Amino acid sequence: MVDVAVLISGGGTNLQALIDACAQDDFPANIVKVFSNNPDVLGLERAKKAGIDTQVINHRDYESREAFDEKLHAEITACGAKLICLAGFMRILDARFVNRWKNRMLNIHPSLLPAFRGLHTQERALEAGVRFSGCTAHFVNPELDDGPIITQAAIAINPDETAEELAARVLELEHIIYPQALKLVAEGRVRVANHRVRISNAEYADQSIVNPKPE
Ligand code: GRF
Repeated sequence: MVDVAVLISGGGTNLQALIDACAQDDFPANIVKVFSNNPDVLGLERAKKAGIDTQVINHRDYESREAFDEKLHAEITACGAKLICLAGFMRILDARFVNRWKNRMLNIHPSLLPAFRGLHTQERALEAGVRFSGCTAHFVNPELDDGPIITQAAIAINPDETAEELAARVLELEHIIYPQALKLVAEGRVRVANHRVRISNAEYADQSIVNPKPE
């Protein structure tokens, strides 16, 4: 069983997906603590409801990004977590922090990386006229929304849908692939070589390419 810290800044629907997955008997990870940089978010309520320890570390209380990241690192280490899942965490973490958690920190991003890093991904996908959108679970590198890709899911874009409608459809996929990615990592089946992820169970890896179904 691998102990995980989840970092949030908002509503926490991905956190909820991770909580639900961890509640399954055979799931190999356990959320030991949920951290938020924002004190008034629904995600904290979701964690409390599930009986998970929470802590607010408000970035406004720190004079620099480094000081905030240092506190975060100290508290995550203190709670015993061996993995971090970023789940809608809206702070950029400095390279020192990221490197300390190299290949041990996951993120979920609402695009098919490396396309559309950053914010407003679905608006930009619609503007660009791409035919597919999707989401990516990946290890975190010091660059924004970068790092070895663990799982992705793709959906065809309906040219008449709004960015909000597309985002809602992609979010549903996020809730499927993020727990899958955590499971693979917690099971020790994910290896990173030359910035690429290899998953030891090929059949499972194939399934995760497009519209993965939960196991
Ligand atoms: C998700 O779209 C996620 O991909 C992005 O931030 C959003 C967080 O949503 N990184 P939620 O708080 O998990 O509902």
